[in-house]
Amino acid sequence: MTKEPDLLNVAILGAGPISQAAHFEACQKARNARLYAICDLAPDLLESAAAMHRPEKVFRDVDAMLADRDVHAVLIGVADQFHVPLSLKALAAGKHVLVEKPIGVSVEESVELCNAVHASGLVLQIGHNRRFDPGVLFAHRFVAEELGRMQSYKGWYYDSTSRYVMTGNLQPLTQVSQLAKRPQGDPKSDRRRYFMLAHGSHLLDTARFLAGEIIAVRARHNESFGAHCWFMDLTFASGALGHADLNVPIRGDYEEGFQIAGEFGSVHARLPLTWYQKSGNVECFSIRDAMYRRPLGADAFTYKLQIESFADVILHGKPQIGANVYDGLASVQAMVAVARSVERAETVALTTVAGGL
Ligand SMILES: NC(=O)c1ccc[n+]([C@@H]2O[C@H](COP(=O)([O-])OP(=O)(O)OC[C@H]3O[C@@H](n4cnc5c(N)ncnc54)[C@H](O)[C@@H]3O)[C@@H](O)[C@H]2O)c1
Repeated sequence: MTKEPDLLNVAILGAGPISQAAHFEACQKARNARLYAICDLAPDLLESAAAMHRPEKVFRDVDAMLADRDVHAVLIGVADQFHVPLSLKALAAGKHVLVEKPIGVSVEESVELCNAVHASGLVLQIGHNRRFDPGVLFAHRFVAEELGRMQSYKGWYYDSTSRYVMTGNLQPLTQVSQLAKRPQGDPKSDRRRYFMLAHGSHLLDTARFLAGEIIAVRARHNESFGAHCWFMDLTFASGALGHADLNVPIRGDYEEGFQIAGEFGSVHARLPLTWYQKSGNVECFSIRDAMYRRPLGADAFTYKLQIESFADVILHGKPQIGANVYDGLASVQAMVAVARSVERAETVALTTVAGGL
């Protein structure tokens, strides 16, 4: 691990499963960031995270952490319902923000965050880590430089019945705490809403990253034998035809992927479960040389790559590849539009939606 001379001091807010499995290590391995502080209200999680990852500072109180002038940026890894309030607090304290996906749980709070980011002049990035899969980035570049006009985009995301068998082996043992701060009620009990926020947010962000703005959706939903399936007809601003389907859980292997057809080429991609930290298998065909090309993407630790890119934007003014606050709002609008379309059995324009899922 070689560190660059300029390092972004990152404070990680939330020592729950996602930080334990990804963010603490990603931050330590990032070439241009330093795990400066960890903050969690649960003292047991804080103590074990500090013992293992040795940040310079630990905090139980978020305000005390935000008052530390040496904190440059906050990585917010807490429950979805706290994303917007804590991002607003961090921005008000003058900190850059990398916040987990989805950015929020309603259109209104996401708009409020857009306004706050705009007023602050600070960087906010959302943890849509799929964008940093080297295969996805390769496809993104191919679409911009070689594909020509896009005719169609088809994306899918199937979460497996065996996900927890696989993640149990791939992730470090994670510690849970009765003292962890959680939202009221049990937001995960409404599976339809939870699956869309947890998984649909990735599916829709990847679609937007590769095919551009979604302006309307027509969705159908089927719940059978405990499994949920959405078929989403997407209208892209570009005129490309779009389809996305989400199956949670599928009786089979985990799979994410997309197919793109364009004027001068096509793309075919299959992405593994993120926790393998392997690049997606992405092939781009160009009629220019009648060749398929596929990157190796040896470094596919997407949680690290997203921190490095975030730090590059702040430290060196590089272009932001990660999802920004407006991308986050668009994903929330798309998820709400999907819910409304299912309820009303009609096409819903994203600009007309309000409320939450
Ligand atoms: N990008 C991905 O692939 C991916 C994967 C899994 C989870 N996630 C996202 O990560 C987020 C967090 O997931 P999790 O399972 O770790 O959540 P969690 O709720 O289990 O843990 C969050 C931790 O944050 C702490 N916390 C909350 N509010 C706090 C506050 N005000 N001050 C101090 N500490 C506070 C809690 O005590 C808890 O320990 C979710 O939004 C989830 O959608 C993303």
